[in-house]
Amino acid sequence: MAQVLKTPSHSLKEFRILPGYTPPDGNAPNVSLKTKLCRNGDGYLYLHAPFVSAAMQAVTGGEMAIALAQLGGIGILPVSQPVDEQCAKISQVKRFKAGFQTNILTLAPDQPIAEIVEVIRQTGYTTFPVTESGQFHDKLIGILTDKDFDERRDLDCRVATRMKTDVQAGTDINDLSAANQLMIRYGRGFLPILSKEGILQTVVFKKDLDKHLRHPSESIDGKKRLLVGAAISTHPEDRDRVQALIEHEVDVLIIDASDGHTEYQREMIQFIKEHTVAPVIGGNVVTAEGFNFLAEAGADAIKVGMGIGSGCTTQEVKATGRGQGTTLMEIGAARDQWQKDHDAYLPIIADGGIAGPAEMSVGLALGADAIMMGNFFARYTESQGNLVRNAAGEVVKEYWMEGSMRAHNMRRYAQTKENFFEEGISGYVPHVGSIHDKLPTIIQMLRATLATAGCRTIDELHENAVLEMQSYTALMDSQIHDIDQRIL
Ligand code: IMP
Repeated sequence: MAQVLKTPSHSLKEFRILPGYTPPDGNAPNVSLKTKLCRNGDGYLYLHAPFVSAAMQAVTGGEMAIALAQLGGIGILPVSQPVDEQCAKISQVKRFKAGFQTNILTLAPDQPIAEIVEVIRQTGYTTFPVTESGQFHDKLIGILTDKDFDERRDLDCRVATRMKTDVQAGTDINDLSAANQLMIRYGRGFLPILSKEGILQTVVFKKDLDKHLRHPSESIDGKKRLLVGAAISTHPEDRDRVQALIEHEVDVLIIDASDGHTEYQREMIQFIKEHTVAPVIGGNVVTAEGFNFLAEAGADAIKVGMGIGSGCTTQEVKATGRGQGTTLMEIGAARDQWQKDHDAYLPIIADGGIAGPAEMSVGLALGADAIMMGNFFARYTESQGNLVRNAAGEVVKEYWMEGSMRAHNMRRYAQTKENFFEEGISGYVPHVGSIHDKLPTIIQMLRATLATAGCRTIDELHENAVLEMQSYTALMDSQIHDIDQRIL
């Protein structure tokens, strides 16, 4: 006979966090939201803010991934696109900002200016080193910028006749701050670094330094480039995708599956572990058994949640799923046990059904190290959904689930063309403006929650938070009540 669990499943919305003692240096500005996204070699891949954008067509493209990494989180590029498009978006993020750059476009002295005009039009780049052969690692002989020629007059001229040859460069510098200081001293926007023989080694750009100063908490890799993740499916054909993503220097792979407690998932994790050193996040699971299964398989973090995404119809059509509060309580306890047994901490990512700061705080307090959101990020200008006007004249953003007809991501649900049914809908969410304007306020709200709970870090929140389940009437009191909000 089937087993029936008698305690009901709970949503994150049913919990509140009790205040704890806040010491004089424990207020919001002193709270750190730095968090572990996943294991990475012998250590962890850290984020400065616990935000992960969903691997969904409507949510994460290059623009969202760049903006979110600048703000301390990470974007995950969806698997439901051709592999070359997914790789091109990784390159877009990786090229966006770097410390020392070694792969920028270099010109040869005999190229006609007409060719350079076309390059500028296609790439948007405006500053180019010129080397003897046109190859990056060769003798530097000049610099050409878009200010050095006039398109109306110089199209037939050669680069050599327009480039500047009085180049100020650094020699054999491998410390980024020393390179930046020299660039500032020269008052230039660009500093080439040469070997003693005059061979171009690397370059640094002032615009990269400016971007870093504007976003001190950005998520960056060892080469000071923004972090980005990419989703893969468990299907065998995605083994080639894994190789391509790794070649494009993706920072983390995420297996995108609605049900992660499967043999397919174990096989994909093992393939990744055997063939790469990249961290891999497994999921989604909602039970302790599912967590232990993926932990045993070698996942570097585990993503949890089923049937609770904002536009998800999984529970309606399949009756499978679980309240995210209960999932996190059970899996948080399984993670603690795993840590005791294996002396190793495995991060948990809460995925789905989280669209406001209260749910984010409760999710983190119940053991999540990071929060993956679709609906929440779809609302920002930087998401991939189109801006449209609805019947009431409001500007809204399109948001469609990966299991919807529109996304046609049948592999996520182990479906084929013949047996396809929807597990999610297409709809609209309000457009709330740029993530750059709005996310800092949400970050401040989370910090304030931790301060009130008497915790200075997410680790402390996991250890010390006291949560309480609310009665229906207590929840009514926790919302706006007994006040007329209509304009008189
Ligand atoms: P949201 O933030 O509540 O909108 O949930 C986003 C999450 O829902 C994603 O990260 C996926 O895990 C999940 N999801 C995406 N598409 C579907 C779907 O079609 N059905 C069920 N869940 C989905």
